[in-house]
Amino acid sequence: MSKILVTGGCGYIGSHTIVELQQAGFEVVSIDDNSCSEPWVMDRVQNITGISCTNHPINLCDMPALRAFFAAHTDISGVIHFAAFKSVGESSTNPLKYFYNNLLGQINLMQCVQDFKIPHLVFSSSCTVYGNPEQLPVTEESPMQEPESPYGRTKVIGEAMLRDLVKVAPVQVIALRYFNPVGAHPTNEIGEYILGVPSYLLPYITQTAIGKREKLTVFGGDYPTRDGTCIRDYIHVCDIARAHVNAIQYLQRGAAQAAFEVFNLGSGLGQTVLEMIASFEKVTGLKLNYQVGDRRAGDVVAVYANNRKAREVLGWELQFDLDAMMATSWAWEQRLARE
Ligand code: WQD
Repeated sequence: MSKILVTGGCGYIGSHTIVELQQAGFEVVSIDDNSCSEPWVMDRVQNITGISCTNHPINLCDMPALRAFFAAHTDISGVIHFAAFKSVGESSTNPLKYFYNNLLGQINLMQCVQDFKIPHLVFSSSCTVYGNPEQLPVTEESPMQEPESPYGRTKVIGEAMLRDLVKVAPVQVIALRYFNPVGAHPTNEIGEYILGVPSYLLPYITQTAIGKREKLTVFGGDYPTRDGTCIRDYIHVCDIARAHVNAIQYLQRGAAQAAFEVFNLGSGLGQTVLEMIASFEKVTGLKLNYQVGDRRAGDVVAVYANNRKAREVLGWELQFDLDAMMATSWAWEQRLARE
């Protein structure tokens, strides 16, 4: 059984990816310092799959600990790297925290991948590398633009470092550019665990609906879009997770066309903020308390994916539609309120 290391395995996309990897027959081990996640997530993963996954609470910036881990796990055939801070807003007020954690952590991981001759690495990247795209939908060849935040910059630099690494190390890399991951696992065992006030739209919607937040503010109603609010490409976290299995399988069967490849992970659809609110109200039967307020600095007007390459090259198939995104998000919020 092929053993995969998932860094950030207790996190939102990491935990959903471990479920899909285990159900696809992979042995999985996790590294997560739980600075932004909870250790009990691994118990929930086992509730879903019946398979345990050990998490090693190591910070990737602790190189001696990371090196010792790899020395003790010489049978790792691939790494999926999620572990990074991801708050756009926090990164803008504290860029050095993000550069240190996200970039030094990745540099240490790349050093171990090179030294321990790990053949395959999948990197968690983001649509934020496209900035405010001139042409839509964006393809993998769309120009990368000034990212909206230091968080986005760590993704641009992260990809660039990997493009250089594959020139000297015997590793094949896939960068997966996520659009807007939302939703929770259909079993309602795992979902997005928000620390503090949510900055992302859907968690704010569900926390408003459950009564944790008084009102949702729509950031801007005067954009040049069909209803004046921003357009994004929302994609279910389980679809995102399954794409990582497709990527590892693609690498392991030797199908890679180059040492570094990029794939967009989006639904290919664009929804406005008001359309997301309407969809949530339709699925739940609830009336959401919201107001349209000022624009949020750094927001791009519209971005959504051309996902053809991932579908055709990786064999990626989307299974969750917008209603499922809303229904699973709401079910998860209701579970959190009961706990
Ligand atoms: C979505 C839309 C807001 C909250 C982020 C990361 C990006 C990627 C995807 C990882 C925007 C509006 C939001 C609210 C609102 N992450 N909004 N009221 O900024 O598109 O992208 O997630 O790969 O890197 O930046 O996501 O959910 O914050 O915003 O009106 O209370 O919802 O203005 O138009 P974003 P978001």
